[in-house]
Amino acid sequence: TVFTRRNLLKATAAASLAGIGASTAGRLTGLAAAKPEPLVLKTVSIEAKLTEAGPTKNVLTYGAAGTPPVVRMRKGEPFAARLVNGIDDPTTIHWHGIRVPNKMDGVPFLVQPYVYQGDHFDYAFSPPDAGTFWYHPHCNTLEQMGHGLTGVIVVENPNDPVFDSELVINLRDWRLGDDGQFIESFRPRDAARGGTYGTVRTANWLDQPQYDAPAGGLVRLRAAITDVTRIYAFRVDGAEAAVIAIDGNPVPQRFAPDALQLGPGQRLELAVRMPDDEGAIVSLRDVRGTKPKVLATLRAVGKSLKRDLRDLGSLEANPVAEVDLASAKRIPLALSATAENVSADSICGSLGYSFWAINKVPWPGDTPDPTAPLAELNLGKSYIIDMENLTPHSHPIHLHGMSFKVLSSSTRQVQPLVSDTYLIQPDEKVQLGFVADNPGDWLLHCHIIEHQKTGMTSYFRVV
Ligand code: C2O
Ligand code: CU
Repeated sequence: TVFTRRNLLKATAAASLAGIGASTAGRLTGLAAAKPEPLVLKTVSIEAKLTEAGPTKNVLTYGAAGTPPVVRMRKGEPFAARLVNGIDDPTTIHWHGIRVPNKMDGVPFLVQPYVYQGDHFDYAFSPPDAGTFWYHPHCNTLEQMGHGLTGVIVVENPNDPVFDSELVINLRDWRLGDDGQFIESFRPRDAARGGTYGTVRTANWLDQPQYDAPAGGLVRLRAAITDVTRIYAFRVDGAEAAVIAIDGNPVPQRFAPDALQLGPGQRLELAVRMPDDEGAIVSLRDVRGTKPKVLATLRAVGKSLKRDLRDLGSLEANPVAEVDLASAKRIPLALSATAENVSADSICGSLGYSFWAINKVPWPGDTPDPTAPLAELNLGKSYIIDMENLTPHSHPIHLHGMSFKVLSSSTRQVQPLVSDTYLIQPDEKVQLGFVADNPGDWLLHCHIIEHQKTGMTSYFRVV
């Protein structure tokens, strides 16, 4: 396919609506088969204005812009990026939710070397699935992601229904003191509980940003939780809205986001029908906990486009293999606390504690001496993870490299969602089915980064 002017305009309009100047297309060649020019993703340390107190030093990002980056790819088309490390800390890139070849997965020691300051690493793959994904380092993650090093990925599908505008939102907190500067990234007593929360909450690095959207129009809102700790409960006020996709995959049945809970690493896609009246305000809120928070607002502009949410066509399902329930082998997986301390010094960061375990084994991941895999899986075979949460906390459990289908839960009615991250509640048991169709070593971990780095990490080996 040709990168047409119309598409370019569309991409540019979406980027400016989101206030994202750094949005880049990594595929400016005319032929799909041709090797794309690599997009350069350079890690840099910048100053950014996150609070009234003035610019925060040592904010980390990819490229120099003062807003979080967005990368656009196209389903099935080659994408290439060169990670250039400009910060004084080894790093890698993990393409969260994208089913990449193992060598491109960004996990140091397990699949690739980490990248030192001044060095680079070339990533290349064709994303098989369309949807909203994100990218982040997989080395010293609490420090690097806590300081902002994350970006949203939009994988476009030319067959998608047409929206009147698109908005990409990167949701995260920052742990800043009153002077607006970073404070210690975690407290051990919180790491042993729900995790350490940030002190300043943002959407696209701003406090409650407002975006213009066409009155009476349909907005495609893509939100990614890139925070290291916080679980959100989403609601939209002031407009009709429907959840159209979660974690990059269309939902089987659309529904209104009424306190929909999603955790770190997860993505929400909404279709929002803007009000007809010019100037009307729509708000995206987090209603979890005692202090509900407006995350961002949309303001209706212009004459009403008079669109109808019900006319919106469906999103194409991604080409994820169907689990064969009859032959599927079961993998028991228990999440628990642990008292067993493992010392795990690593160039990719150690928090110095272990509080959590998967099947009683605590492993922080990103260490030169990986533990044994949780299970060896046969390429092409179906599996069902029987996951049980034996802790009093919720955990967003993320599987690399393969998508699973949510089959059933002991505590709630679940839609058969296809996903890469499942937010398991206390005392819940859940069945996740998947086909082991991607060879290699694939990490599975809690995406509350303090839990991940203090033991709640393991991996599958697919051979
Ligand atoms: Cu989003 Cu192993 O990570
Ligand atoms: Cu957790």
